[in-house]
Order: sequence, then structure tokens, then C-alpha cells
Amino acid sequence: MAREPKNFDNLLGGNAKGLSDTQLKAHFTLYQGYVKKLNEIREKLGTADRGAPNYSFNEYSELKRREPVAFNGTVLHEMYFENIGNGSTQPDEHAKKLITDSFGSWDAWIADSKAVLMSAHGWLVTIFDYADGKLYNNLVRTEHDVGLFANVHVMLAVDAWEHAYFFDYQTGKAKYVEAMLSGLDWATLNKRFATVGVAHK
Ligand SMILES: [Fe+2]
Repeated sequence: MAREPKNFDNLLGGNAKGLSDTQLKAHFTLYQGYVKKLNEIREKLGTADRGAPNYSFNEYSELKRREPVAFNGTVLHEMYFENIGNGSTQPDEHAKKLITDSFGSWDAWIADSKAVLMSAHGWLVTIFDYADGKLYNNLVRTEHDVGLFANVHVMLAVDAWEHAYFFDYQTGKAKYVEAMLSGLDWATLNKRFATVGVAHK
């Protein structure tokens, strides 16, 4: 069954800190394009000939190579639009403890998150690693498909491709980063953090 794009119009009208409606609407259109391509790839995979897969080129092989681009492009944008907000919410005690236990302090997490975002053409993705019960910041890049750790749970996504901020900030990326990290929607994030444990000591 085809995946339907989600509607994020609730962010318009100043509900995403530091982002204009023009910026957001352009980004929604890009996101909808990933959903469309994910559906197209999966439909074609349904009937693609599996008889001659090939590293250099084959229709099935190439569809499989492109599938994670459209999938992560879809899901990371959905997580991003769901976890940005107007700065009116706060992390709960569980989220704060998990972050401070994992990074040493709240400020250390913010500093590392800024550093990832400023390093990126790509995404800041904060993940929970079941192996040691700690959070880590990933820099997911290239085509939304490189840099995401395996066997982890994604907690937070922040887009740091130029298309996410260029209407509003042009080359002033640091101001966009500041707005995003201070405007996170902790109502959403607290629910995500509640699904994972507290970092081991
Ligand atoms: Fe984006």
C-alpha cells in the first residue's frame, strides 16, 4: 500500500521557531517528493526481474541501491518536522538524565549537536545505542543513507542541508542551528526518549 505524505501545516504561522512559512512550504514539497519516490521504487520492486542482479547495472539492483535514499529521506524529514517546535516545551527528567549521562552534561550535548550540524551537509541524528544504553550524535550524509549507526533507535533528527534554511538565513547557518536547537518540540521528544532506557554508568 502506498505511503501517504504527512501534513505538517501545524508548523506554519510561527510554530517552528525561526522558520518562515515560505521556507517550510518549500521543504514540505521536497519531503513529499521523497514519499512519492519511495512509493515508486517499492511498486517497481514488486515486479522487478530478480533473474540477473548485477553490481554495475540491473534494474532490480539499482532500485535496491536507491531504496534507502527515498526511505531515509522520507522518515528523517517526518521525524524532523515532528521534533521542531516553538521553544515552549521542556525536556522531562528522563530525557535530561539520559542526555547528561550520555554526553557528560546538557551543554556538552548541545555543543556536540551544534558541531555536527555545522559539519553537515546532512543530518544531525541523535540515536540510542542498545549495546551500551547511551545516546550518540550521528552525522547522516550523502543521500540520507550514510552515517547512521546500525541496531540503534533514532531519537531526534535536524536537517542541515541548505534547502532547510537558505530562504530564511542564506549563509547564516549558525543562526538556523541556534533556532533549531532552542526550539525543539520536547513534547514529542520526551515520548521518544521514554521508549529507551537510562544510560549505564
Ligand atoms: Fe530536507
